[in-house]
Amino acid sequence: MTQHDGLKPTSGPESAQPPAPVDYSGSYTAGGAKADSDLNSLSVGPNGPLLLNDVHLIETLAHFNRTNVPERRPHAKGSGAFGEFKVTHDVTKWTRAAVFAPGASTRTLLRFSTVAGELGSPDTWRDVRGFALRFYTTEGNYDLVGNNTPVFFLRDPMKFHHFIASQKRLPDSGLRDATMQWDFWTLTPESAHQVTYLMGDRGLPRTWRHMNGYGSHTYMWINAAGERFWVKYHFHTHQGVECLTNDEAEKLSGADADAHRRDLFDSIKAGEFPSWTLKVQVMPYEDAKTYRFNPFDLTKIWPHADYPLHEVGVLTLNENPKNHFAQIEQAAFAPSNIVPGVGWSPDKMLLGRVFAYADAHRARIGTNHHQLPVNRAVNEPEGGFNRYAHDGQMQFEVSDAPVYAPNSFGRPFSNETGQVEASFASDGEMVRSAYELHAEDDDFGQAGTLVRDVWTDEQRARFVDTLAGQIAQVKGDVQERALWYVTQIDAETGAKVRAKIAAKPAAAPAPAGFAEPSKSAADPGAVGAPAPKPGPPKR
Ligand code: HEM
Repeated sequence: MTQHDGLKPTSGPESAQPPAPVDYSGSYTAGGAKADSDLNSLSVGPNGPLLLNDVHLIETLAHFNRTNVPERRPHAKGSGAFGEFKVTHDVTKWTRAAVFAPGASTRTLLRFSTVAGELGSPDTWRDVRGFALRFYTTEGNYDLVGNNTPVFFLRDPMKFHHFIASQKRLPDSGLRDATMQWDFWTLTPESAHQVTYLMGDRGLPRTWRHMNGYGSHTYMWINAAGERFWVKYHFHTHQGVECLTNDEAEKLSGADADAHRRDLFDSIKAGEFPSWTLKVQVMPYEDAKTYRFNPFDLTKIWPHADYPLHEVGVLTLNENPKNHFAQIEQAAFAPSNIVPGVGWSPDKMLLGRVFAYADAHRARIGTNHHQLPVNRAVNEPEGGFNRYAHDGQMQFEVSDAPVYAPNSFGRPFSNETGQVEASFASDGEMVRSAYELHAEDDDFGQAGTLVRDVWTDEQRARFVDTLAGQIAQVKGDVQERALWYVTQIDAETGAKVRAKIAAKPAAAPAPAGFAEPSKSAADPGAVGAPAPKPGPPKR
């Protein structure tokens, strides 16, 4: 049977077919030939073996085996939507970036995610949420790859691999493990501020629409006169910050693992477009040297009393992806994607990330991931940018231009010299060292302020419950160290958590002979770093 008359089932009674409105007008092979059948493979007689020359069957089976790209190593589970960022306030005194120019309106893509879980993991496990935002600006892609918390667990990228490993799975059982998580956190006390956020209400946002987003790092802004400023980005949700209780989250994890993905897609489909106001804190360039906290330490916030928020514009998500794989799974956000008028800072974490993401994309999606439609800059001319990095897997730009620079055949190349626009001062010998401490820097102070001065009694009570539930599962020495860690954050919380666990023992008791880790004032990231100073200032 060679002609496409297989519109009817090839076996069985016709009445067995569902009365569905289907279109049998045909599909094609990768080579562009009309495919014979998407329903029946080619066999020797109706009941006979299959044939290797059934090109369409072979192609279909082979393609199926290659339908995945590797999942993101952290932040695997997520989803997102397209939208628009509209500038509402004049910030030209601080930045000349076109995306922040008065009246500018820019298409965006925002991907939300959880950090530790894999591609199929529940959206409502307690975790930090990713808030990865791309602005498709007239000057190129600007990616602000942030989270729903203004701080992070670490201040040196050397520790990132170990951090993620401790939050993922045990080598033998393949299970996640509270002891491993708390072991890493308590031996890395710079994590205290972020752990406090995580164990508080923000560790369980009700939906992605009901949480704030933060750039978290300190970035640089540069104005038209070349003046430099330090900035922190805050996206405040218009939907209100709402969170789940532990019970609600646990039930949802079982009932609907995709609850947050569904909520976002359904809301946008129903025309309920979520939105956020972007505000920035701005620090004059020179203040960084003497500010009471190291402004490049990602475990710290800048209290608003020191650097108030200034409105910039409104971000609205108004368009669902048409194809999740092509537009969300293959989206390649990278802190290295930056535009004129914006720069990085000496934050060591940020500088580590400037390398890590584009490299992850090369490994996960391919060398030419930037050529995919979702990753293409909107200012890219027909035929692509003048880029000397050529060829590689899946190259589909066709050019016969000279492949090297300098060349005398008219292909332009760049040749800027001197101080770069977004430079920052640096001096000294090469060292391996923690950051130098500023006047009020320590590991636990800001975390304690969050608990005591920002949260309500109800929030503090939920914090104690969550910590007791978590730490009860922690085994051996690490449990006692976890109680020490929580006590450093807030003594009252520590005492309550200890009492709760004692009243309801769950894990193996901490072995005798556990000693408080030794104190080292030199390295704020060292175990037993200085205790918080009394009465840190209000946020
Ligand atoms: C040195 C520190 C860090 C390193 C090396 C690192 C590395 C990575 C890598 C390799 C990915 C996967 C990228 C991909 O495959 O598409 C990723 C994803 C992500 N990271 Fe980080 N990360 C670091 C710190 C942070 C921090 C501090 C934040 C937030 C403030 C953050 C937010 C995110 C988000 C939101 C994603 C998901 C992006 C998406 O939706 O595609 N990361 N990170």
